[in-house]
Amino acid sequence: MASVEIAEMRNAHEVLAEFSYDPVELQRGYTNRTLRFDISKNSIEEQAVTQQMKDLWIGGKGFDLWLMLQEISSQTKWDSPENPICMSSGPLGGTTSFPGSGKTLVTSISPLTQSIMDSNVGGYFGPYLKFSGYDALTIVGKATEDIIICIDSVKHKITIEKAPKESLDSHKIAEELTEMYADDEMDKRNISVVSAGQASEHIRMGVLNFSFWDWRRGEARLKQAGRGGIGTVFRNKKIKALVIKNKEYLQPWSITENKVTQLTTENICCQGGKSDRELVKEIVEKWKADPDYVIEMMQDVQEKERFISKDAVQEISLITGVPESQLYHIATFYKAFSLKPRGELNIQVCIGTACHVKGAAKVLDSFERELAIKQGETTKDERFSLEAIACLGTCSIAPVVKIGDEIVGNVMSKDVPKLIKKALKQLETKKEKGDKNA
Ligand code: FES
Repeated sequence: MASVEIAEMRNAHEVLAEFSYDPVELQRGYTNRTLRFDISKNSIEEQAVTQQMKDLWIGGKGFDLWLMLQEISSQTKWDSPENPICMSSGPLGGTTSFPGSGKTLVTSISPLTQSIMDSNVGGYFGPYLKFSGYDALTIVGKATEDIIICIDSVKHKITIEKAPKESLDSHKIAEELTEMYADDEMDKRNISVVSAGQASEHIRMGVLNFSFWDWRRGEARLKQAGRGGIGTVFRNKKIKALVIKNKEYLQPWSITENKVTQLTTENICCQGGKSDRELVKEIVEKWKADPDYVIEMMQDVQEKERFISKDAVQEISLITGVPESQLYHIATFYKAFSLKPRGELNIQVCIGTACHVKGAAKVLDSFERELAIKQGETTKDERFSLEAIACLGTCSIAPVVKIGDEIVGNVMSKDVPKLIKKALKQLETKKEKGDKNA
């Protein structure tokens, strides 16, 4: 995107409210405060989280419901200014050792059901909100013109700004605001943009799109809080976007206290072979040995060596100072990482609901038979690994299989031998090319 256009958009902003805050330490998963925006009055305030709130409502959906109850009455409709949009992360939010801890829980009165509806979404927003110093936020009121709300945890500043020039469409505004608020290319991963898109102005089932920066694709990608039409409420309040910028990683729970890790780490880390320490060093240096980028370093190692070895973990830990136990938490949490060497080509068979209904089990059976391995295993010649995964995001062409980088749709079990033959050919061509270039 042209920097002139971004500069023009930024220059057109008019600050309507500004709020500075002090950073806080996380205490057992809580920051002990929430944020409340009233965009009719352009006010921003902090509210305390009480012990009773933590005991009875815990966090996530519970906190959202408690916050909703402070704002609504029996008369509140979905399009009433006092209908809040609440967003929260739970006390485990941002702890990579627990599945689902990256989620943001969103609630509002739904335009579809006229009752309180919750929706949850992945991405970085929830953990970023917590690391910025807040357990949850509430937005009430209605703006008169299009606004954005920006939480900048680097400057510890929160603003409500008029934003007349940014696009309404989510895929565009996510790119525009990521570009606007990032200091450089590497900083883009520290931005998350929530938006609802133009269609939400005309339908009752508008979704909220939460962006995260995919540095491999070099683009902002979107995850959806899709239930209940909360995107429609967002646009009804004339909010164009909610932006968060965060560079901190505050460990909500001390990993070294986790006894399960201590018991299992030694066993899980010994399954792989050796790795090229020089290569790992090069990768770590590419990311300036910045502990914030250990996931990216591990993604590079996984791509080059097809697994995360004990050597690689030791090397990354040594240079960046991130404890090995934390790296193992990451390696065992994300499916993209493997602690055993994977085959040259990874075959993923989707067994998600849509694919399951259309016969994915038979397709997986065929792959297991043809390759003579079970899912989760690698062939003896290390050419293929086979994995069953939940959803590849292309349900309309179910059943779906991903071979290397290629998505193949409408796969029947009788197609499997042909697909394997084709994949073998690909591997041979790749090898020939490699030999020629060598
Ligand atoms: S369920 Fe298979 S692609 Fe979504």
